[in-house]
Amino acid sequence: MAQHVLEKLIDHAKARFQKSSLTITPLDVEGYERVVEVQDPAVGLSAIIAIHDTTLGPALGGIRIFPYASKEEALTDVLRLAKGMTHKAAVAGVGFGGGKSVIIADPKTDKTPELLMQFGTAVEQLKGKYICAEDVGTTTADVQIIRQTTQYVVGLPHEKSSGNPALFTAWGVFRGIQSVLKQKFGSESVCGKRIAIQGLGSVGSCLADYLFWSGAELIVADPNVKAVEACVQKYGATAVSPSQILQVPCDVLAPCAMGAILDETTIPLLRCSCIAGAANNQLRVSSNADLLSQKGILYAPDFVINAGGLLNVSFEVDPQGYNPQSSRMKCHAIYDTLLTIYAVAEEKKISTHKAALLVAEERVQKGIGKRLTPPVFHHSATPLYDSL
Ligand code: NAI
Repeated sequence: MAQHVLEKLIDHAKARFQKSSLTITPLDVEGYERVVEVQDPAVGLSAIIAIHDTTLGPALGGIRIFPYASKEEALTDVLRLAKGMTHKAAVAGVGFGGGKSVIIADPKTDKTPELLMQFGTAVEQLKGKYICAEDVGTTTADVQIIRQTTQYVVGLPHEKSSGNPALFTAWGVFRGIQSVLKQKFGSESVCGKRIAIQGLGSVGSCLADYLFWSGAELIVADPNVKAVEACVQKYGATAVSPSQILQVPCDVLAPCAMGAILDETTIPLLRCSCIAGAANNQLRVSSNADLLSQKGILYAPDFVINAGGLLNVSFEVDPQGYNPQSSRMKCHAIYDTLLTIYAVAEEKKISTHKAALLVAEERVQKGIGKRLTPPVFHHSATPLYDSL
């Protein structure tokens, strides 16, 4: 959306905005610090915000807009996602806790500036315990609208913000690929290694760049024919169909498309030595990690290897504003974090997924990586929340 169109939309919504019909109802959920249901029938808003744990810092997590079939389904999803964010942030050492929000709506038809602004009002009322960001079903334009009614937003376009996370996520994945190679073959070099990339979107295409220039042999798949053709032409990659990519013989399979691709049906078909990719929730259920171990496949846990985007955005709230060098350094260190996790898995004879969860929980329990200074928001425009 063009910036001037967005500004007009915001002005229009601001003129009509009122928060009087908003209700925020606490839900009692064991194991979670705070869960609230947010409603405003006047603007069609029905949402849940879940704060799982703020031991290490305020809860950070995206806003997902999805047409859930029921409130129960939305609650199950937001609880799972918020807990996942606690683990991801803890291992990444970003000084944030875990949270998430879901808005029950169809992002294609139901998303209005009024709905988004009313949602922002609810976030503002949590007084910084929850910081929101873009996620599935939301865009940068949406978070700019939400920011009119809350300051607790990251990922906005401004001079001190962090920009495109995909480059950093892909660098973290590249370092993760080096870590599995080191652990499995004794050398981190990707030169001459066969790497199969599932999905050539923002992260996958950037990962292909990094791998090509480091000497890897690429095998790629994506339903987007243009993305595949570009990769074949630029890097001499071998193209296979999306239905074949999980079964190609390779050193590393890098899932960079969608989640739940590893389960009882697909794991027996795999012919890779290692799995290291960006996709969220690659295991359909946690116990699938044991199937991978039994098959001798080394798995880089998704929430550790794909933390580059989170790391990158976390630098936005530094007192001095975003610094790409600091972000790069932290993404680089994903390699060492993963080697530590493989060592824990070997020592305790558990899957790497379980080992990563253990490391995350230990960091939370001991307060390792706790935020020492409050986040600083560098938003510039005059917000509506000041006058509410
Ligand atoms: P994207 O939407 O830009 O790219 C996904 C790509 O996967 C698209 O090109 C799509 O055509 C392709 N795809 C869909 N179904 C496929 C299939 N069956 N086989 C092969 N390719 C298929 O998404 P993006 O940003 O590149 O993210 C990729 C994954 O990484 C997602 O699961 C995302 O949640 C996760 N992730 C992304 C981060 C980021 O910084 N963008 C951060 C952390 C995780």
